[in-house]
Amino acid sequence: MQTIQVPLTGNSYNIHLAEGLLSRAPRILQEMGAPSSVVVVSNPAILKLHGAALLKSLEFTGFTTAVISIPEGEIHKTLQSIENILTELVRLRASRKCWLVALGGGVIGDMTGFAAAIYLRGIAHVQIPTTLLAQIDSAIGGKTGVNLTVGKNLAGAFHQPRTVLIDPHLLSTLPRREFNSGLFEAIKYGIIRDPGLFTLIDKHHAALPENNPEILAKIIYECAAIKADVVTRDEKEGHLRMILNFGHTFGHALEAATRYSYMTHGEAVGHGMILAANLSCKLGMLREADRRKIESTVKAIAPLPSLHHLSLDVILEPMQADKKFSGARFRTVLPTAIGQVEIVEDTSKSAMQDTVAEYLDQQVSPENN
Ligand SMILES: NC(=O)c1ccc[n+]([C@@H]2O[C@H](COP(=O)([O-])OP(=O)(O)OC[C@H]3O[C@@H](n4cnc5c(N)ncnc54)[C@H](O)[C@@H]3O)[C@@H](O)[C@H]2O)c1
Ligand SMILES: [Zn+2]
Repeated sequence: MQTIQVPLTGNSYNIHLAEGLLSRAPRILQEMGAPSSVVVVSNPAILKLHGAALLKSLEFTGFTTAVISIPEGEIHKTLQSIENILTELVRLRASRKCWLVALGGGVIGDMTGFAAAIYLRGIAHVQIPTTLLAQIDSAIGGKTGVNLTVGKNLAGAFHQPRTVLIDPHLLSTLPRREFNSGLFEAIKYGIIRDPGLFTLIDKHHAALPENNPEILAKIIYECAAIKADVVTRDEKEGHLRMILNFGHTFGHALEAATRYSYMTHGEAVGHGMILAANLSCKLGMLREADRRKIESTVKAIAPLPSLHHLSLDVILEPMQADKKFSGARFRTVLPTAIGQVEIVEDTSKSAMQDTVAEYLDQQVSPENN
């Protein structure tokens, strides 16, 4: 078992990673002093695939368990679902000592963390992430929350988990497109911090997740370690944590412009990373050879959904509404080499516009491909 420490002041915790860790999770919780009854929060699809294994081993270890199941999907990441979780906890007579166990991807993880942050003014929770994105990103760092009708992730709280238990084996049931979505985020860590990780993913992604468990575990470990390091040094979204937003300024705009239904978050970040590399090159901050390498590696993971039907305005509009936009200048995270990024506070709107316009010109309709 590999362990990554997240040494935050006041709420330090460990991330554990091992193939088959799900069955050992109850022992770890017991050793950490978890109460004898825990509540697992998940969705019907994940429960069907992995719920029985977790519940069986929890009960075998002596835990009393209850399950709260939230309907599947991002559309249920709402305040209503939080109210349902809290109401169910009251019905179960869950006390302040109760621990919640999130078994799921980012949607379940974010909601379980938020419910734990506010139930009886705060109870403990544990993350058992079941998607690649959750294992390398959302389960780590304590950002929890839900979407509002007017926008994504607009209500929430910082609430760190007691531990994060990563079992790469859980990814064997993940649909390929969801797995690739996580790989785009994995590539992001390579570009912002670690050229070796970038090369590792570039070389091996096609054989994952099934055919090379050692490499998969190594990639997850390296990514989780970078996320843990960044959030440790910058727990509450100061300057350093912004580097994790690489590819996300453009990515979020593309997701909003396509109403969150046309592409996955990872695919949007894939486009976003290419756009950021193009912009960086345009500003003379990145060599053309590195730009080309970023583009070809991102595209090799999976073909990105074409943007041929989008207009410049429809993409720029959400970008101007973005939290990172101020006046006529944008804050962007731009690569200066593979393994290195810079936060640029005053990227001009015209440079952003030109970059998006040129990228849209290159897009071909899928029928003509
Ligand atoms: N808190 C953070 O720091 C942070 C960071 C990034 C993203 N997020 C949030 O994470 C969410 C996206 O998370 P996600 O990409 O994990 O998506 P997700 O949670 O929606 O899961 C994707 C799909 O895969 C299914 N699934 C999950 N595990 C599975 C498995 N092992 N086998 C088969 N199917 C499985 C889910 O039921 C779902 O349909 C977004 O809401 C985003 O805002 C949060
Ligand atoms: Zn992301």
